[in-house]
Amino acid sequence: MANKEIAKGAEVQLKDVPETMLWTLHNRATEAMRSDRVLTDPKAVEIYQAINYDYERSFGKADPVHALRSIAFDQAIAQFLKQSPDGTIVNLGEGLETQRFRVQDSKALWLTVDLPEAIQAREKFIQPNSRHQHLPLSALDRKWLDLVTKDKPVFITAQGLFMYFPQKEVSTLMQDIFQTFDNCHLMFDTIPRWFSKKTTAKEGYSLTEHYVAPKMPWGINRNEIKSTLARWLNNQVTVEDIGYPSFKRGVGWKIFTALSRIPILRRITATIVKVSSNKTT
Ligand SMILES: C[S@@+](CC[C@H](N)C(=O)[O-])C[C@H]1O[C@@H](n2cnc3c(N)ncnc32)[C@H](O)[C@@H]1O
Repeated sequence: MANKEIAKGAEVQLKDVPETMLWTLHNRATEAMRSDRVLTDPKAVEIYQAINYDYERSFGKADPVHALRSIAFDQAIAQFLKQSPDGTIVNLGEGLETQRFRVQDSKALWLTVDLPEAIQAREKFIQPNSRHQHLPLSALDRKWLDLVTKDKPVFITAQGLFMYFPQKEVSTLMQDIFQTFDNCHLMFDTIPRWFSKKTTAKEGYSLTEHYVAPKMPWGINRNEIKSTLARWLNNQVTVEDIGYPSFKRGVGWKIFTALSRIPILRRITATIVKVSSNKTT
């Protein structure tokens, strides 16, 4: 089905973790609206402007972090598609991500796996079609693994998702993924332990006086990532700590980038990780 023109004033009823798709949309779309943007994403802007929601009241001033994260994921998917143009891309917890509009391809199959209420919100703005399918399932429900072909390479993304799961759920999901697919990449972002603790503390992590972020129980420091994943996945994988793309605008980001180069501080920053099965082509 063709994508419908988006009418303004759309209502989306989201709470808990699904509501956070509006936080990342806020950050991505606001970046895409700047004249000095690092991310071009007219579809995100269209959706952002259509939804009747006071983004700044909940999430405060927009930040480029989620645009940078999307850039890293877009680049990795584009690279995967160069090698495997008819491969499968599975976006776990995709929310209102508009990656499929930014990364051009003509053959791949894209599967969005998100909770039913999130898919309902997504379909107000983005329609599935034969090459872009929506699966209203939890990423923790292994049914989605059965729905992905095993005879093609697969690239699985989890952008802004795993931190919301308890560690045991993350490790068993990763084990099931790599046991199911021989030729597989899994890319996700992590938050450090100190940040996870902030969100799970009694008072929670308030972005503004009107919004407390949902708990993010899974935190991992960067220096622990390779050894932890090697242990969980029996050394059957290659783990790359990709990091966030560098960003030069604004004093805050310059300080963040400089501090991230100091090894002891680097450990306690967020990052982006790509895990590939050793049989990957
Ligand atoms: C922070 S948003 C990220 C959305 C999108 N990936 C992005 O970067 O803009 C978290 C997303 O995870 C989804 N989510 C939460 N729990 C989930 C679960 N158990 N299975 C699949 N998706 C889930 C939410 O509905 C939401 O879309």
